[in-house]
Amino acid sequence: MEPQFFDQPGGFVGKPLVRVEGREKVTGKAKYSAEIPLPGLTYGVLATSTIAKGKIQSIDTTVAMREPGVIAVLTHQNLPKLAKTPNDDQGKKDTSAPMGFMPLTSDEIFYSAQPVALVVADTLDHAIHAATLVRVTYATTPEQPIATFLDPRAKLFNPAQVQDGKVDGHQRRGDAKGAFASAPIQLTATYTHPVYHHNPMEPGSTTAHWEAPDRLVVYESTQGVTRTQTTLVAMTGLPREQVRVITKYLGGGFGCKGSMWPHTILTVQAAKAVGRPVKLMLTRKQQFTSMGHREDQHQTLQLGATADGKLTSLIHTKKSTTSPWDEYAESNSKIIDMLYASPTFEASYEMARANVMTSTFMRAPGEAPGSFALECSMDDLAARLGVDPLEIRLRNYADHDYSNDKPWSSKSLKQCYARGAELFGWSKRNPKAGATRDGRYLIGMGMATASYPVHSSQGTARARLYADGHAVVQSGATDLGTGTYTVMTQVAADSLGLPIEKVRFELGDTNLPTAPNSGGSIAAGTVSSSVFMAAQDVWQKLIKIAVGDKKSPLYKAKPEDVTMEKGRLFLKKDPSKGEAFGELMKRAELTDIEGMGRGRYGAGYETGQSAGPAGPGNNADAAGQHSMHSFGAHFCEVRVDMDLGVIRVSRWVSVMGAGRILNAQTARSQIIGGAIFGIGSVLMEATERDAKFSRYTNSDLANYHVPVNADIPNMTVEFVEEHDPYINAMGVKGIGEISMVGVAAAVANAVYHATGKRLRDLPLTPEKVM
Ligand code: MOS
Repeated sequence: MEPQFFDQPGGFVGKPLVRVEGREKVTGKAKYSAEIPLPGLTYGVLATSTIAKGKIQSIDTTVAMREPGVIAVLTHQNLPKLAKTPNDDQGKKDTSAPMGFMPLTSDEIFYSAQPVALVVADTLDHAIHAATLVRVTYATTPEQPIATFLDPRAKLFNPAQVQDGKVDGHQRRGDAKGAFASAPIQLTATYTHPVYHHNPMEPGSTTAHWEAPDRLVVYESTQGVTRTQTTLVAMTGLPREQVRVITKYLGGGFGCKGSMWPHTILTVQAAKAVGRPVKLMLTRKQQFTSMGHREDQHQTLQLGATADGKLTSLIHTKKSTTSPWDEYAESNSKIIDMLYASPTFEASYEMARANVMTSTFMRAPGEAPGSFALECSMDDLAARLGVDPLEIRLRNYADHDYSNDKPWSSKSLKQCYARGAELFGWSKRNPKAGATRDGRYLIGMGMATASYPVHSSQGTARARLYADGHAVVQSGATDLGTGTYTVMTQVAADSLGLPIEKVRFELGDTNLPTAPNSGGSIAAGTVSSSVFMAAQDVWQKLIKIAVGDKKSPLYKAKPEDVTMEKGRLFLKKDPSKGEAFGELMKRAELTDIEGMGRGRYGAGYETGQSAGPAGPGNNADAAGQHSMHSFGAHFCEVRVDMDLGVIRVSRWVSVMGAGRILNAQTARSQIIGGAIFGIGSVLMEATERDAKFSRYTNSDLANYHVPVNADIPNMTVEFVEEHDPYINAMGVKGIGEISMVGVAAAVANAVYHATGKRLRDLPLTPEKVM
């Protein structure tokens, strides 16, 4: 078939459709993972350790057990054994668990608030109360726990491998040290980041139901049902087809729901132990010690440049805290390596073990802190040379990806800069820092570049088109709340030629065709391409029937000469010759017809479509030949009250080039949400870990500050039109993460412009401003 999808007239893709599941959500009909009404449901509550390091000496559950309604108190002494735990290296690999330690497998305590017991009762109140009655005595070691890599006792080491595969924590391109040493302009700066916590509105929650002794169903708050299933399969030892994971609705995740954490399998084990379904929802406080966090880190960036501001060298080092078993560090250096035209680059990672749980990916893992260092330092370079910050970025514009020497699949960054500057009124900015005032407020304007890669991925979808003109389209994807249901319905409607209300899109179930995690900004592109390809499969089948059907106007036509629009098949050269799919299916006595599609990285639209899902001539090789990224720019105005040290973001503009935008409204909301996430990280968010006890002191939303409406101005968001033929069949790059990349720097750069003070120690709270 010829490409017809891009030209689908009057289509739904790109339109600002409201969320198809919005009514279910606001009326409470949408059932989240802790709202599944199962017969005989019981309630699980975790009791957690009061120390961060030591051993359980004794654990007394008799008082708790005597309480009314208590069904079981499970500890390391009586919990059913797992087939496999991540406690050894191979176990971690096999289970895909983010954390190399499974609580309730021994008497050892490695971090504060580590689960020590799980109470199951007939009501939530009974379980909460009984959990307070579990008596634990601890044998502490004479040595205090270590809380961060800054502790003088902490031993820094190079991790064997960082997230994106840098061996020994080192990466080099050219002679960065030599280039730095001989650079006319040399800048060195250290940026410090606190612990950050994902705080999705819906905390982690699990409802575990053993339908039979060897058949498990888990309703889970996860960003990926298949990945959760994989971990459950490994830990329970059950065959994959006997473990079903369902996630119909999700109240956010930001990465902490990207993999399966201990509370989930503990709930599964508890359900097995009591022989009834168990549901467990983390408390807000437990959310801070149960699903990872963004690690506390210091990064130093050395930047060498010519006298006219062209980069000659970038040297990046990062130090961070890790858990007693894992070597996770988000990879800040990726974006530093690729964003500008620096001929040389070097990066190294160090980490130290502490008595904390494992850190994990959090929105734009790596790019968020990495862009803070790079984009603040670029601003410093501009200030040092007296060059406009936008101009310094244009002087270092990368016309290809310097990190791997590949051409970009597409890049609209110059358009983003130009349009953003225009919308923001950048040209009105007084170049002098600390020189713009409005009454008692210092006014500053800053900007930063954003970028995020299109990650390699693949997924599948099924489309079932009914002769009566409706369709059910399915893919085991998840909707974080950001619009997967809606955008996939739009794509399905257009590619099947149906009105939107005739399409139902189903997701969030391992019984559906496998889809990747909603993470790393890959869901929109991969799943939409899968849906599109599934629809192409349907049309290929229908065309085959038509050209072999004597009663069809398309009888004996060559399949490649036939195309489809709005559900009508016709000859490309003579559109009058054709018929609607319903008539064709009626004659063929088909109530419905089904197609499968595989969407994947690098399988481009042009060839992907003409070849069909399994056909030759796909564009997969292009994935290896091109560097695939989205790009954008953020512009920020702040008002700084120097008497109180308070920074307020007063204006905001983001312009993004991210391939095809599937829904103007949900996409705008994504960018706004990410920018607010970034504003939180730069101005207020920080989890305080007590240095002596390695315990969080502000693990609730009263003390862990996130932005509220009053903190955020009206935001302007635009997308530049961008057609990328290489990334995937729908040309969608994804926008979940890029929305917050560069945001912290844009704010900090605006604060510098307002005050003349460069702040590098996050978050920029009032005492640091004054
Ligand atoms: Mo995102 S941190 O990949 O869920």
